[in-house]
Amino acid sequence: MKIAVVSPEAVPFAKTGGLADVAGALPKALSSLGADVKVFSPKYASIDEHTYRIETVLPNLRVPVGNGVEDFSLKGCRLPDSEVEWLFVDSPEYFGRDDLYVDKKTGQDFPDNDERFLLFCRGVLESLKALGWKPDLLHLNDWQTGLIPAYLRSVYSQDPFFSETKTVFTIHNIAYQGNFPSETSKKLNLPADYFYPAAGLEYWGMTSYLKSGIYFADLITTVSPRYAQEISSSNEFGCGMEGLLRARRSDLHGIMNGIDYKVWNPEIDRFLPFKYRADNLEGKRKNRLALRKQMGLPNPRKRLPLIGIISRLASQKGFDLIEACSKELMKLDLQMVVLGTGEERYQKLFRSLRRRYPRKVGLKLGFDEALAHRIEAGSDMFLMPSRYEPCGLNQLYSLKYGTVPIVRKTGGLADSIEDYDPESGLGSGFVFEEYSPEALLGAVNRALEAYRNKERWEKLMRYGMSLDFSWEASAREYLKLYQRLKRNPEPVAVESQSCF
Ligand code: ADP
Ligand code: GLC
Repeated sequence: MKIAVVSPEAVPFAKTGGLADVAGALPKALSSLGADVKVFSPKYASIDEHTYRIETVLPNLRVPVGNGVEDFSLKGCRLPDSEVEWLFVDSPEYFGRDDLYVDKKTGQDFPDNDERFLLFCRGVLESLKALGWKPDLLHLNDWQTGLIPAYLRSVYSQDPFFSETKTVFTIHNIAYQGNFPSETSKKLNLPADYFYPAAGLEYWGMTSYLKSGIYFADLITTVSPRYAQEISSSNEFGCGMEGLLRARRSDLHGIMNGIDYKVWNPEIDRFLPFKYRADNLEGKRKNRLALRKQMGLPNPRKRLPLIGIISRLASQKGFDLIEACSKELMKLDLQMVVLGTGEERYQKLFRSLRRRYPRKVGLKLGFDEALAHRIEAGSDMFLMPSRYEPCGLNQLYSLKYGTVPIVRKTGGLADSIEDYDPESGLGSGFVFEEYSPEALLGAVNRALEAYRNKERWEKLMRYGMSLDFSWEASAREYLKLYQRLKRNPEPVAVESQSCF
């Protein structure tokens, strides 16, 4: 099976969040199951061509943007760890910037994001044709790829090259929708009736790339079964797309992300000063010491748990709960290390905690891949109090690193972490349900209580380390879906258009 995975970011080339981890790992897992896989991403300036030996594959390609045309080229490389081909849509004008979506200078989205990802979507389709490589399936990820199914249903619908090509559109986070002013519709060269009220791209007077993906793709997936339910059942989670998702409920599937144990594994992690494994946790102790030192935290005399946080600092992640109970939290017997980038409000919160409690809170504001691995390894617990969480990867990394997750029961966190029961000793972490500071404190207190019994705690750590969230099972599920589409020659119809 020939599969083109299309994603605005992929590890190791460009990353702002978990999507990059998924787009870096799933293609490799699909390829090791026998699929022929190419991955398409934009060529951002931050991707170093020399490091990855990226070379021009096809020069002089072009796509229409509005009334004009834009030139681009296709670049590509292979990496030693798989058969996957990594391809890049290279338009220096649109992507020759270090930042992916947000202009650091203004703190706002780039004003031409509509054109950038229009060029990307159409550029992928034109590249496939120019390569003469007919995919059975296009696996599209998030709003940045959402125009592709619309083009296939219109501009390319009579093109024999794509006559067998199916689409799967994966929603990694429905709150990010790529909604642009109505004028954007004029740039896309798509049929005018796609922009009529309640049609495929129209969303409350705006042009929505996410809606286009959900509306026109043959199948839709999201990254955990529970999130699939959540986004189709309420406005709170569905962010306005719940009606459309309900109309397509038989085409919506929740498949839990896996993780790449070649990258996230304390036995071989290249970022760790000390490697370790479930049957010898000495290395973890040393990593904790090193982490405390690196983050400027004193080494306490008594056994004191260190709680890790690594996150985009966004309201999704539930830090307003920490804000609301920070005084109580800081009274507890614990230390915290925080690594994050994002909204000023939460940067301020953690800066002020660090200032007020220098012996308790370590902080780095920024994006730091190596430190992320060291925090996973050196912490005892990992806190994710998310308001919503489509899948979440850090709780899965934490399990593997013997770092016990404390999570809110939502989305993929609910699907992956079983609440610990001290009576039976069963469970993999500490789960709280109500979105309140009291519930968060309750879960932290239960974790601290369990931590006091060293023997039991180590049993809990080892249980988490033994769980398997590797990509293989999830990749098989995706393959099953792809095969189902291949067998079904009819385009999948949307049941109802009037969904709002
Ligand atoms: P999301 O995609 O919503 O940000 P996930 O839990 O799926 O959340 O994935 C986040 C990924 O980004 C993880 O690999 C995490 O380690 C990484 N990450 C988040 N913030 C930072 C940061 N400041 N520095 C390094 N890595 C980070
Ligand atoms: C999104 C979600 C996160 C998920 C990731 C990868 O960024 O916020 O929960 O793990 O995508 O699918």
